[in-house]
Amino acid sequence: MTKNIFKGSIVLNPVPVVMVTSRNNEGKTNVFTVAWIGTICTKPPLLSISIRPERLSYEYIKESMEFTINLPTKKLTRETDFCGVRSGRKIDKIAEMNFTMKAGKKVKSPYIEECPINIECKVKSIIPLGTHDLFIAEVLCSHIDKKLIDENGKIHFEWANLITYSHGEYFSVPKISIGSFGYSVAKKTTIERKKIRKKLVKVDKKK
Ligand SMILES: Cc1cc2nc3c(=O)[nH]c(=O)nc-3n(C[C@H](O)[C@H](O)[C@H](O)COP(=O)(O)O)c2cc1C
Repeated sequence: MTKNIFKGSIVLNPVPVVMVTSRNNEGKTNVFTVAWIGTICTKPPLLSISIRPERLSYEYIKESMEFTINLPTKKLTRETDFCGVRSGRKIDKIAEMNFTMKAGKKVKSPYIEECPINIECKVKSIIPLGTHDLFIAEVLCSHIDKKLIDENGKIHFEWANLITYSHGEYFSVPKISIGSFGYSVAKKTTIERKKIRKKLVKVDKKK
């Protein structure tokens, strides 16, 4: 393998791409697209998003200290892109995209009904980094489409047709699993049992 050196550029790929909804203290709502997002702690459940201070969403989130993450599906790729290239300062993106907004359970920011997964977050700290400020937030609750949960209570994110972002392009997430957590060291019998369970779930879904 011959490799080129790229100095200081972040080539971490692919990354998630999400739509973040927020509501300011006057009750105005907005949505914008975020790719600089990550899971940072299990207990307490924390995630981070990086926001440039010039965004309208930055103002809303700093004011309310709350936001909601909405995971887009392949069908919502155009909407995801649009919300990332137009500002709420000039246009009502929620109305323009025809999103159905639902009231949050734990936070004041509403969530996008058309997205199958919504994550309600409370900001714990804001760290200025340079171009972006890092917002560290606690996950208070999540809404997950019932169609993605099997009879054993397992969530099948792969059934949701989610999208990812890589170097300026959107990609669909493949449905085919190529391994599972710990399979490299698991006993053969455990893997076989898992495979059988998966087949049964598929058959059950077809019924
Ligand atoms: C794919 C994609 C990813 C983006 N990721 C971020 C991000 O992580 N942080 C950020 O501040 N802006 C990001 N943006 C840009 C904002 O979404 C964009 O400037 C948006 O118009 C801001 O909207 P607002 O002013 O209504 O808040 C991204 C845009 C796209 C298209």
